[in-house]
This record gives sequence, C-alpha cells and structure tokens, in this order.
Amino acid sequence: MEEVTYQGLTFVPYIKRDAIAEQVQRLGAEISRDYEGKNALFLCVLTGSFVFAADLFRACDLQDAEITFVRLKSYEGMESTGEVQQVMGFSEDITGRNVLIVEDIIDSGLTAVKLRQELDKYNPKSVKMVSLLFKPEALEVGNPPEYVGFEIPRKFILGYGLDIDGLARNLSDIYVLKEE
Ligand code: IMP
Ligand code: MG
Repeated sequence: MEEVTYQGLTFVPYIKRDAIAEQVQRLGAEISRDYEGKNALFLCVLTGSFVFAADLFRACDLQDAEITFVRLKSYEGMESTGEVQQVMGFSEDITGRNVLIVEDIIDSGLTAVKLRQELDKYNPKSVKMVSLLFKPEALEVGNPPEYVGFEIPRKFILGYGLDIDGLARNLSDIYVLKEE
C-alpha cells in the first residue's frame, strides 16, 4: 500500500481493508441480533455508502431483510456545502417499517438530520442509523449514529466508497490527506 494522488493532493493509507472487514462483520452480527424477525429495511444513502452497504448487507444474517436506496449530495471537493440536495428519492413504502439508514460517514450530521426528517413524514415504526465512520468533533446537528464502525478525527478521507469529486471510490482501503 502506497500513497495515492487525486486532484494534486497526496493521501496516505489510514484504515486497511482487513480492519474494515472486521468492523463490518462486528456490525453485521450486532444488527442481525437486534433486527431478527423485524423485516428490516436497509436504506443505503448513495453514492458513498454503496460499497459499505453491499458488504454490510451480506454480513447480516437476516432472512427477512430488504434494501433500498436514496441519493443525497452535500459535499463538493473536500468541503460540505452546508446544504443537502435530494438527487434521487426512495420509493418503497416505509410506513410501519423498521428502517436502518446505512451511511458511509457522519460529518456535520446535516445529511442524517435531513434524511430522518424526510423519513418521519412516512411514519416508519423505527429509524436507526449505522455509519462505517463517524467524526464526533465535526457533529453540529442531530445525534450520533446508533451503530458506528470507526470514530475518527476531523480529517478528510477517501476510498471504500468515499470520494473526492467522484474519484477514489474504488480503493479497497481508506486513505487520509497527508499532512506536509
Ligand atoms: P454531513 O452531512 O456533513 O454529515 O456529511 C455527510 C456526507 O459528506 C457523507 O455522506 C459523505 O458523502 C461526505 N463526507 C463527509 N466527510 C467526508 C470525508 O472525509 N471524505 C469524503 N466524503 C465525506
Ligand atoms: Mg454520503
């Protein structure tokens, strides 16, 4: 594993694929215990979460689980724009369902708050969130996710679904911006 360069910036290895896989298995086991027989509806927040959601969904031993997708966008480059756009809505009937939001990373918390507000309009039975990564120091609104893979400092990272302007999502490890 080496340094990678995107948009003229250098990133160094931060969380290796084995460590990610270990947390995904742990989260899968916990979620399987908590959602047994509850007809869980996983709600994958595109685009960043698709890699994590695919691994997590298979790590869950739940015969009655379903998955659906919503697309939100708040980041441009390495900055949150402070506004959350809903680019693609969700269609499954979520009324009375036990919804588990699947996020790649919780930063300011804005995306999560906006999504929870939107979901509440349809009266789900329960709404919880699992996020692979969580930056506690960056949280401005809302609550921490109920399930967290890694708590990390306020640094810009990419790989394993996370991007910089659409790039680097296909890296199997997670990288952090190199400090000069
Ligand atoms: P929030 O609304 O500020 O919590 O930001 C959530 C979204 O911003 C995430 O779902 C990511 O798409 C993006 N994001 C936040 N931090 C990072 C990062 O370090 N790298 C890449 N994307 C990030
Ligand atoms: Mg995202």
